[in-house]
Amino acid sequence: MRSIDAIKQRCESAIKRANNLVDLERLEIEYVGRKGELTTILRSLKNKSEEERKKIGKEANDLKEELKRRFAKLRRELEKELPGLRLKKERLDVTAPGIRRLVGGVHPITVTLRDVCRIFSTMGFAVAEGPEVETEWYNFDALNIPADHPAREMWDTFWLKPTNQKSKIKNQKLLLRTHTSPVQIRFMQTHKPPFKIISPGRVFRYEATDATHDFQLWMLEGLVVGREVSVANFKSVMEVFFKELLGSGVEARLRPSYFPFTEPSFEVDMRRGGGSWLEVFGAGMVHPQVLRNCGINPNEWQGFAFGGGIDRLAMLKYKIPDIRLFREDDIRLLRQFRRAS
Ligand code: PHE
Repeated sequence: MRSIDAIKQRCESAIKRANNLVDLERLEIEYVGRKGELTTILRSLKNKSEEERKKIGKEANDLKEELKRRFAKLRRELEKELPGLRLKKERLDVTAPGIRRLVGGVHPITVTLRDVCRIFSTMGFAVAEGPEVETEWYNFDALNIPADHPAREMWDTFWLKPTNQKSKIKNQKLLLRTHTSPVQIRFMQTHKPPFKIISPGRVFRYEATDATHDFQLWMLEGLVVGREVSVANFKSVMEVFFKELLGSGVEARLRPSYFPFTEPSFEVDMRRGGGSWLEVFGAGMVHPQVLRNCGINPNEWQGFAFGGGIDRLAMLKYKIPDIRLFREDDIRLLRQFRRAS
């Protein structure tokens, strides 16, 4: 009898404390569940006298029913509160400062490459591509640089070891292209003039690296062939290009130079805001022999060509002091271009 009262008291204070459904469920199991205290008391009655059985049995059953009602009531109350509690828990402060997410970036060479392609395409140039592994003929001979020509030394070349594999290219020495001029040869062989193309791409040079030289770099070359293409046209294309890429206040100048595949040849220098001149491109009027090598009649057609490093352009544009930084993948450099392009 006394223990039933005690159960009642304990349960009542526990009900007062219960403020969520998990607590409630625990109480239900403890007090009215199949292994709960009241059930245990009811089960033990069989060892008691008839009189005790009736009395205690009734008390225990009454309490069990009452507790069930109380639990049901509490459940209804808690469930009513639930949406409010949920709102509280899921409260979102839209004025709180955000969490910064790291997003991928675009490599400065890629940004520059895209800029270059965009600028030249507004001037009507198409973009041509070609293989990075080239034959000796496309990289040199077609460009008026035969094997015994001293000009070959202008390009320190990675020659590839001949393999035993059957190749479509018979009796040809293979190399990593040292410039993208071979792309222009391939284009001239397969297209009829007039045309204007740029050929951006990766090139390779077998040379020691320093702040301005790397053994691989991105190159931009361009070629225009038409009936009346002149050096004056070329100079104005350069001026538009520099202005679009680097902003106004950029000047360009041509200096005499030598390349086997152009005649006359020059270097293109540029400067910003009256600063010192920097060499950016090699260039010239396409040598008649090169046109002939591609099946184009030099008496009918003429053109200009130019070529230089996209790395160099990116260094100028973003004031990057060392060309090797582009291929070190240092996150501190790359992060600065996170939102570029
Ligand atoms: N192909 C030359 C180089 O490797 C660049 C160039 C292109 C020069 C076209 C003149 C004309 O540097």
